[in-house]
Amino acid sequence: MKRFQFPAWINPLLPVMAGFLGIVLVYYGGLFAYAIQPETSDVGYRPEQPVPFSHALHAGRLKMDCRYCHNTVEIAAHAAVPPVATCLNCHQGKNEKGEAVAVGIHVESVKLAPVREAAALNEPIPWQRVHDLPDYVYFDHSAHVTRGVSCVSCHGRVDQMEVVEQKATLAMGFCLKCHRDAEPNLRPVDQVTNLGWKPDGDAKAIGAAIALERGIHPSEHCTTCHR
Ligand code: HEC
Ligand code: HEC
Ligand code: HEC
Ligand code: HEC
Ligand code: HEC
Repeated sequence: MKRFQFPAWINPLLPVMAGFLGIVLVYYGGLFAYAIQPETSDVGYRPEQPVPFSHALHAGRLKMDCRYCHNTVEIAAHAAVPPVATCLNCHQGKNEKGEAVAVGIHVESVKLAPVREAAALNEPIPWQRVHDLPDYVYFDHSAHVTRGVSCVSCHGRVDQMEVVEQKATLAMGFCLKCHRDAEPNLRPVDQVTNLGWKPDGDAKAIGAAIALERGIHPSEHCTTCHR
């Protein structure tokens, strides 16, 4: 039996057809890549910082509480990034009178040079912002943190990051998913900055008890987040 064959006159057209198919694939591939690329959802956004400050070291290995540096997170909408003075608590070789002191950690380190410069000029360190909602969205840290929603729900394991990177989309669907069913995401308030906390039992039941006790019922009304 003779195998099916394209007529010979098609042969010269094959490269053209392959080229056309290629263009179509590249077009749809590109669209798909655009839809899932980090810039569209900001997931994975990880700007380079002026100082190689490591959360994995300070919050992870040294076990410093998030609130030591982000000290407004429980009382304000905005979670303040610490001023130079907070770093100098440990990384300064001089006291307020300018006398040399022995307690400073890595006071000569080149990695800390921008911190010393900022301190000398009395200027802030130009940290690059990682998370940034559009201005038409209202968000409040204290409302979450004081109700038992952990930093890890929205920021991931920051205590394991050398460089902070955005982990959640922070899109409307992300917010609403939890507002509709917050209970599995609630924990005792004193465990909110303990990012590695694991529920001792069924997360949903533990969260339900916390929600009941504290009357927690997140709103899905448009005006909660768009004022
Ligand atoms: C020793 C001080 C210090 C501690 C402790 C600390 N942070 Fe930070 N954090 C910083 C500094 C400085 C920045 C800005 C530079 C950067 O992004 O790394 C920052 C940035 C961040 C950002 C990104 C902010 C933005 O621009 O969007 C998040 C989120 C964050 N920290 C969460 C945490 C969490 C969660 C903890 C506790 C597990 C924690 N931090 C502990 C100093 C600290
Ligand atoms: C409570 C004390 C403490 C505070 C506050 C603190 N650090 Fe540190 N930091 C340390 C310790 C301890 C080390 C060294 C750990 C080691 O080498 O084992 C360190 C190391 C570092 C290093 C690495 C230095 C090198 O040469 O390896 C950098 C960079 C740094 N810190 C930046 C900062 C910045 C920026 C801030 C303020 C946002 C800050 N630290 C606040 C305790 C602190
Ligand atoms: C329910 C989600 C959620 C939780 C929980 C949460 N954050 Fe955030 N965080 C955000 C969002 C959203 C932004 C961006 C806010 C904006 O652009 O206005 C942000 C921004 C930040 C910033 C940058 C400064 C700012 O306020 O814009 C820091 C620092 C930060 N978070 C630290 C923390 C720490 C520390 C915790 C836990 C104690 C925490 N966050 C818990 C969602 C959350
Ligand atoms: C993991 C769960 C969770 C996520 C994710 C979450 N929320 Fe919430 N949100 C809550 C809980 C719990 C409350 C408190 C409800 C209460 O007190 O009854 C709350 C309350 C609020 C409030 C009310 C604050 C006030 O002033 O009373 C606003 C606004 C809000 N969330 C905005 C957001 C936005 C915007 C996002 C997304 C960037 C978000 N939330 C993501 C759980 C979440
Ligand atoms: C829990 C907080 C929350 C609630 C409630 C909420 N939104 Fe949003 N909304 C957001 C966030 C966060 C964004 C920003 C998404 C982004 O960064 O692209 C957003 C974005 C939008 C946008 C811009 C287009 C888009 O999808 O990005 C529109 C329009 C909008 N919201 C309408 C509404 C309406 C209408 C309601 C009530 C049915 C509502 N929102 C309720 C958090 C909320």
